[in-house]
Amino acid sequence: MMIVRGAVLREMGLPAPYASSRPLRVEEVELAPPGPGELLVRIRAAGLCHSDLSVIDGSRPRVMPMLLGHEATGEVIVSEAPGFAPGDVIACAFVPACGSCGPCAEGRPALCEPGATANTAGTLLSGTRRLTDVHHHLGVSGFADHAVISAHSAVKIDPSLPPEIAALFGCAVMTGVGAVVNTAQVRAGRSAVVFGLGGVGLSALLGAVLVGAHPIVAVDVVPAKLSLALDLGATAVVDARAADAVEQVRQATAGGADYAFETVGSARVLEQAYAATRRGGTTVTVGLPHPSQSFSVPAVSLVAEERTVKGSYVGSSIPSRDIPRYVALYRAGRLPVDRLLTATVGLDDLNQAFDDLAAGTSIRQVLLF
Ligand SMILES: NC(=O)c1ccc[n+]([C@@H]2O[C@H](COP(=O)([O-])OP(=O)(O)OC[C@H]3O[C@@H](n4cnc5c(N)ncnc54)[C@H](O)[C@@H]3O)[C@@H](O)[C@H]2O)c1
Ligand SMILES: [Zn+2]
Ligand SMILES: [Zn+2]
Repeated sequence: MMIVRGAVLREMGLPAPYASSRPLRVEEVELAPPGPGELLVRIRAAGLCHSDLSVIDGSRPRVMPMLLGHEATGEVIVSEAPGFAPGDVIACAFVPACGSCGPCAEGRPALCEPGATANTAGTLLSGTRRLTDVHHHLGVSGFADHAVISAHSAVKIDPSLPPEIAALFGCAVMTGVGAVVNTAQVRAGRSAVVFGLGGVGLSALLGAVLVGAHPIVAVDVVPAKLSLALDLGATAVVDARAADAVEQVRQATAGGADYAFETVGSARVLEQAYAATRRGGTTVTVGLPHPSQSFSVPAVSLVAEERTVKGSYVGSSIPSRDIPRYVALYRAGRLPVDRLLTATVGLDDLNQAFDDLAAGTSIRQVLLF
């Protein structure tokens, strides 16, 4: 057993601002050594994602108590798994992939069945917990100085990346770029619109620029994010607070986008994204709304307009294939994910930092050890 310091959530739905209600408590928690197929990792950095915020505010309910954080990078200290050795630097994927269930065999590890079961139960892939009396978050629990994870949650990466950049690949980049490259498979010259310009949406924008989509429209309610989107390669921006926002997107894409991406996590925005998609187009939903939300479309439009609505989880990625590719593209200057990083913070700053994420004043803040 070792003792780790980490940010534990014991109760969902405490009132904002979190700087006052302090839902995340920095606690000392016992961590058991890794079992077969597992790694002890010294966490170097972990990004703050809206999916963590959604557990805190109760819109993505999880088993409590839980040590949060799922977008992490670190160094292997102890390996009980083949293929990993002490000193390896890894990024974490937030769905462990067993490699042998039906979806894994079909090359769709984001849908790994034992992985989903473990994530729901708050355990590692093996079904066990290494944290005493606290659940693991998505097999990672990166808001702590050390973590035990399944080797099926780990991808080796270039050790020379700064940790605050490396962390981003595990969730924001893999999810956003993957939605464009894997889920939608957007080709050069096709039009795209991204609703929501957080870490995930801006990654989708970077992905759209990378594959040569044109035009590319970016939509958000925060003016500073619209300016950044223009800097990063959007050809037009639309303020979502405008009553005619959907009409503006349709005009900027000559009658509707070939591909629309929803990265807000709102069924109402998903309806707008669908309405902004052209005949024959594809609407990709990436955001994670509260489970009680539904969305509706005129059923006949799917048929007579040959439209597609697709869900995209973890960017439909194969992490061991995609993360090294995205890191190489970052190195080559083709995927400037460093532009997503707005601040580094410490364990004691997390509550305030989640207030900033909720307010839209930050993009990716990264907890740095
Ligand atoms: N599918 C997946 O695998 C996956 C992975 C990670 C995150 N997510 C989900 O993706 C969503 C985005 O995550 P994030 O970390 O980028 O969040 P974020 O909070 O950083 O970004 C959300 C953005 O949406 C904007 N926004 C709010 N209301 C809007 C509106 N009405 N119209 C347009 N924009 C609006 C905000 O200003 C913000 O810029 C969340 O729902 C998160 O849970 C999904
Ligand atoms: Zn995430
Ligand atoms: Zn599997």
